[in-house]
Amino acid sequence: MGSVKTRIEQLREQISEANYKYYVLDQPTISDEKYDALFKELLELEKKHPEFADLTSPTHKVGGAPLERFSKYRHRQPMLSLQNIYSEEELTEFYERWTGVIGDKFSVVGEPKFDGLAIELVYENGLLTVASTRGDGETGENVTNNVKTIRSVPLKLRGNYPSLLEVRGEIIILKEDFEKINKERAKAQEPLFANPRNAAAGSIRQLDPQVTAKRHLDLFCHSVGTIEGANFKTHWEMVKMFSQWGLRTHSLKRELKSLKEIQNFFLEVEEQRESLPYEIDGIVLKVNELNNQRELGFVARSPRWAVAYKFKAQEGITELKDVHFQVGRTGVITPVAVLEPVWIGGVEVKSATLHNEDQIKSLGIKIHDTVVVKRAGDVIPNVQSVITSKRKGKEKAIHFPTKCPSCGDRVVTSEEEVAHRCINVACPARLAETLKHFASKRAMNIEGLGDKWIDILLEKKLIRHFSSLYDLTPEMLQTLERQGERSAQKLVDAIQKTKNNTLDRFIFALGIRFVGERTAELLALHFGSLKSFLEAKEEDLLKVEEVGEKVAAAIVQFTTDKKNRSEIEHLLEKGVRPKSIKTHGGTALQGLTFVITGTLPSLSRDEAADLIRTHGGKVTGSVSKNTDYLLVGEDAGSKLTKARELKVKEISEAELKALIR
Ligand code: IVH
Repeated sequence: MGSVKTRIEQLREQISEANYKYYVLDQPTISDEKYDALFKELLELEKKHPEFADLTSPTHKVGGAPLERFSKYRHRQPMLSLQNIYSEEELTEFYERWTGVIGDKFSVVGEPKFDGLAIELVYENGLLTVASTRGDGETGENVTNNVKTIRSVPLKLRGNYPSLLEVRGEIIILKEDFEKINKERAKAQEPLFANPRNAAAGSIRQLDPQVTAKRHLDLFCHSVGTIEGANFKTHWEMVKMFSQWGLRTHSLKRELKSLKEIQNFFLEVEEQRESLPYEIDGIVLKVNELNNQRELGFVARSPRWAVAYKFKAQEGITELKDVHFQVGRTGVITPVAVLEPVWIGGVEVKSATLHNEDQIKSLGIKIHDTVVVKRAGDVIPNVQSVITSKRKGKEKAIHFPTKCPSCGDRVVTSEEEVAHRCINVACPARLAETLKHFASKRAMNIEGLGDKWIDILLEKKLIRHFSSLYDLTPEMLQTLERQGERSAQKLVDAIQKTKNNTLDRFIFALGIRFVGERTAELLALHFGSLKSFLEAKEEDLLKVEEVGEKVAAAIVQFTTDKKNRSEIEHLLEKGVRPKSIKTHGGTALQGLTFVITGTLPSLSRDEAADLIRTHGGKVTGSVSKNTDYLLVGEDAGSKLTKARELKVKEISEAELKALIR
């Protein structure tokens, strides 16, 4: 018996070693046939001898039983996002912002930006215990069994690993598989995956791990959440350790010492892009030294010490069949190119935006022209240029409508913008777009309430505006064709669930002009509650990071509009209660209340308050017995006297920063 046990152990060791050599070191030592043979032998022995079962055996990669649904998993530390830049000028600006804060003695690590699915792996005492998706950054889905099927994910760490490691990385799908899946889906008239990330997500979010195991997925590790029991000073040291622990990192990473080196690295990676078997959409730059990273800190949900520098778009050539005119939320009428379908980067492109009349004029584009179409990531593809040499003489001019294609009302143009607008605020197309935006994934995220649903509900007059969504009942929905009892209930539940969405989502969902996701987040962080956001005057809004005069004016225009106010009132009456948003810099100050007094050495009071909130603390205006700390600067006044009376602890700016660290 002893010999079977020894053989099993030997096989496990050999297979793990082969995985490590292949995936981490990129130096395969045995052939695929040999690997498969070892694997098969191990599977059979384990089946015959269940007494030697071990959860960390490489055979456990084959995956567990199918699930009903995924359970939720809360990350110990939020999974953040990155700011994007697209040009050398923006890079220079970013770099200068860094030098402004941390001086010029720092290095940067450049890595490819994988167009994949963000994942977190938790290793406790070296064993993989949980793998989860990013989700909303705070809570993701537990997809452990599926992630275990990926060969480059070790079930057990090697060497001198930390006692707790939350490692983050990207799950990627091969280009080949991505195109294959999309072609199959196109044939079956199923919706296509917009990008490799969605395809990777679709593969990981299979309830049956056997399906996941069939897709060729891979993992590259690039960052950490919580880590206990390991120490390093730089990102570079950290990724080197990843490899020692058996975690796969990408070989195309570099320590960069100057702006010039960064730009060269960008060009170098861009050149290799085509030849890589999976999609990358740019490079990620990270300030290398952890102390410098801390110094730079975070803004909203992205670190200030890292940035994604994206590649230019991909192109395809096709014919312009026709132009449709679409009415947007704000009444702007956008010409949409109807194209002869063309595959660009694994995605079938059938339409593209032409932006506005000026664009049509400057392209000199006509119907039946041969055109160059570009697509970049999730952005709607756009028509880049016309190949006039391909004209045959049957091309037709494009005419902008003078009446709204939806309501027939007048279309106006103004001096200061090129847009054509439908002036009818009650235009059904505008309302539909407004509601679609409200329900969309990045806004209120009402699961199951897609664009088609909104059109139907409007057509049947079951909804009028945001608040009427919350009045929908399963009975009302069941009156609609093909709507069963269960799915009607499910949709109503999904709508009701969004009543307690976060404030940033809510603000974004309102569809205020110029207020994108990021601005909404900064507004939510700054104001903390819907009430104070709604009451904000222009001068208050201008204090918010990245909010300029144009944005502030648009917000005030929106929040002071009677109809908008009454719609928000209705939402509140239905029980919609946006929650203030969580912090993103960690929870070092969770549960602590601060008051700030005097002039601080380096931070303004607003910045100090932001810093505190960012790390989970609360800031109030006056000292009371509920105050935990008084943050004291020079020339402190009556607040200090009061704090001393109440024996509230005093803290300096430096001590606050130390506390956060
Ligand atoms: S570092 C603070 N490195 O891009 C986030 N992220 O847009 C630190 N991503 O959610 C992440 N390649 O999932 C990092 N080499 C790379 C990456 C990378 C892709 C993803 C990541 C993140 C997203 C942000």
